[in-house]
Amino acid sequence: MSSHGPAIPMSSHPVRGLKGTAHVPGDKSISHRSLILGAMAVGETRVFDLLEGEDVLRTAEAMRAFGAEVTDHGGGEWSVHGVGVGGFAEPEDVVDCGNSGTGVRLIMGAMATTPIVATFTGDASLRSRPMGRITDPISLFGARAHGRTGGRLPMTIEGAAAAMPVDYRVPMPSAQVKSAVLLAGLNAPGMTVVTEAEATRDHTERMLRGFGADLSVEETPEGRVIRLRGQPELTPQTIRVPRDPSSAAFPVAAALITEGSDVLVPGIGLNPTRAGLFETLREMGADLTYENPRDESGEPVADLRARYSPDMKGIEVPPERAPSMIDEYPILSVVASFAEGKTMMRGVSELRVKESDRIDAMARGLEANGVRVEEGEDWWCVRGMGARGVPGGGLAAARLDHRIAMSFMCLGMGAKRAVRIDDAGPIATSFPIFETLMSNIGARLTRDNS
Ligand code: S3P
Repeated sequence: MSSHGPAIPMSSHPVRGLKGTAHVPGDKSISHRSLILGAMAVGETRVFDLLEGEDVLRTAEAMRAFGAEVTDHGGGEWSVHGVGVGGFAEPEDVVDCGNSGTGVRLIMGAMATTPIVATFTGDASLRSRPMGRITDPISLFGARAHGRTGGRLPMTIEGAAAAMPVDYRVPMPSAQVKSAVLLAGLNAPGMTVVTEAEATRDHTERMLRGFGADLSVEETPEGRVIRLRGQPELTPQTIRVPRDPSSAAFPVAAALITEGSDVLVPGIGLNPTRAGLFETLREMGADLTYENPRDESGEPVADLRARYSPDMKGIEVPPERAPSMIDEYPILSVVASFAEGKTMMRGVSELRVKESDRIDAMARGLEANGVRVEEGEDWWCVRGMGARGVPGGGLAAARLDHRIAMSFMCLGMGAKRAVRIDDAGPIATSFPIFETLMSNIGARLTRDNS
């Protein structure tokens, strides 16, 4: 896979007038969950418009290793023959989740209450990320974990033989941790209760209900309390994966900062637990409209229209909005570079433990391109240079992080000089058609060694 193969240095050259329609791929979070829940149902789940990025393909491979039959029918259509809750087989080899924190964390949760042993690993980025946030709660169910120092991969999990349900308060805003606990709770008898202080993306809750689990959500002064009754028989589903708002963010942002642009990004899920970036951009004065708003499979969806916006202003992003746009801070910092004044982003310490330390990765890359950034442990601030004010001309390190790589490629489109990254390979983890899609609307991306 390219995240392990030779680096692909890439440049994004200044352009004008991005125009056209950008059909971005399926949602990464929902794609992982479709495969995992499909594997835990009895019978055949069909999935349409699955994101065929490396992260999700790793999860498909992992579900095969745990005994499910996963078939690619072509054109984004997949089927999963599930083995039922508690039916996972023991993988014969190490499970390699590549770059995917979501994949490894959700799968660890899903197998933690079945009496099998599995060893997980990943690429250099994933092997540096904390897994204690998963091993702590799954040990309460009775699972045991043996990893490297600091709770890092490779790590072996021994699933609980006689799992107990748990009552767990998630200590950080993390949909991955919440989801891992809920998936573990599926094979524990009785009621598993998960409380989160701030609402994070709720795809697991929505999809568990769709698969027939008995799950309730209550908003309380202590936060969102989710109750799941264990050991249901999950019923296979037909799932149409909506397009990913986190991928839509890139053509949208590129249009806002590139003179003369007008880009339509159709069919984007605007679930309130995911749409924080678009709200923020509108507050900054972006010409971003929601056309043809509708409901698809219970999710609000709209076509996003983004036009060049030379009058954007820096703002203070409300910290309570962070969970609904946690993956979008890198691209927001790019847009903020083209606004007038400072954009302040607080309450974002989670950015330091993503595929890379995203505050450090963006700050160093923006500085290399003439943009000033200030930072602290859980905040950062970009000093906007106004429309047409970003010098560019610098090299940024992608650090095995797809969103860092794509953010700098967008920066180059609106800057005065080209922006380079050392490796575009990681883009394939979530947005394998990025280069083609952006080129089709008028971007000029070149592979520097070709
Ligand atoms: C995800 C949750 C988020 C996000 C990741 C996808 C998910 O991670 O950053 O890209 O699908 O549950 P955290 O739960 O660690 O915030």
